[in-house]
Amino acid sequence: MKRIGMLTSGGDCQALNAAMRGVVKSLLYSKEEVEIYGFLEGYKGLIYGNFKMLTGVDFAGILTKGGTILGSSRTPFKTIREPDENGLDKVEAMKQNYYKLRLDVLVILGGNGTHKTANLLREEGLNIITLPKTIDNDLWGTDMTFGFQSAVDIATECIDCIHTTAASHGRIFIVEVMGHKVGYLTLNAGMAGGADIILIPEIPYDIDKVIEAIERRHKNGSQFTIIAVAEGAISKEDAALSKKDYKKKLENSKYPSVSYEIAAQIQERTGQEVRVTVPGHTQRGGSPCPYDRVFASRLGAEAGELILAGEYGFMVGYKNREIVKVPLEDVAGKLKMLEPDASIIKEAKLLGISFGD
Ligand code: F6P
Repeated sequence: MKRIGMLTSGGDCQALNAAMRGVVKSLLYSKEEVEIYGFLEGYKGLIYGNFKMLTGVDFAGILTKGGTILGSSRTPFKTIREPDENGLDKVEAMKQNYYKLRLDVLVILGGNGTHKTANLLREEGLNIITLPKTIDNDLWGTDMTFGFQSAVDIATECIDCIHTTAASHGRIFIVEVMGHKVGYLTLNAGMAGGADIILIPEIPYDIDKVIEAIERRHKNGSQFTIIAVAEGAISKEDAALSKKDYKKKLENSKYPSVSYEIAAQIQERTGQEVRVTVPGHTQRGGSPCPYDRVFASRLGAEAGELILAGEYGFMVGYKNREIVKVPLEDVAGKLKMLEPDASIIKEAKLLGISFGD
């Protein structure tokens, strides 16, 4: 008999349900007797003992369902050691609930912040297995996270739609893509959507170079330009600022995001109309794409195997086309960023895509 706790934490993404279903299906298929406790709204559920008991039926028909059947929330790692507003020790409360339910393992699905807390719980003596979710694909220790490919599809579709209207009107369009502090999503959606300029956090841009790229296109007879801008894109000048000064600049900025600042600069310098489109949270929504359904199911099944073998303290990840187990202490607290000299960037440049550098 295995008593399994499960929770989904942080920003949601596609295929969270597919991954949980994978874990449960593989355990049920093994004929091991299992009891499943689903904690609601991420770590909050574990802290406050808010859970429901689940059976195989709860996981039926959810392979294609977006969001998470357990709900999610952000519980910042930075303040995890601080008592809550009623003086409750959150870490102690999570441990108590784990022990009260006599859990064998806690399966945690999440991204960067989630993994810091998961590793802390491991250090505190709990048995933990994690699964890598995030549309940002910025988790250390895995080449791929589930949710990413589905988000690439949505952001690409957005760029595709913008393409036709941009062409009709001969306009410059900026599509702002999510991805937090990394550029995987923007780079992939930008290339898939045929963007002319792609701005990502890993390659600080020079606005002069961006304008040069637009003018080059115009000289070559193209009336419109599509710019895919990562929400975390940063100019060369801003990248040279201290963290504190950059934060201050953002707080005092009149622009809602970097895309609007770039749009204003281009408009002022070229006299051409610039429009900004922000697909925002649509990128995290809806049904997972087939790739993510398969990928998340595979990760879930492998997590089931680890549970049956009693091997804990790992994230189930993906390296060099193989599903692998990565020690949690290696994952926690590290950000996976694009290398500016990665071959995909070189190839994008060979295609004539400008990175504003
Ligand atoms: O980490 C996933 C993500 O969607 C990022 O791409 C984005 O910056 C952030 O979450 C948005 O967070 P929230 O849903 O809290 O606004």
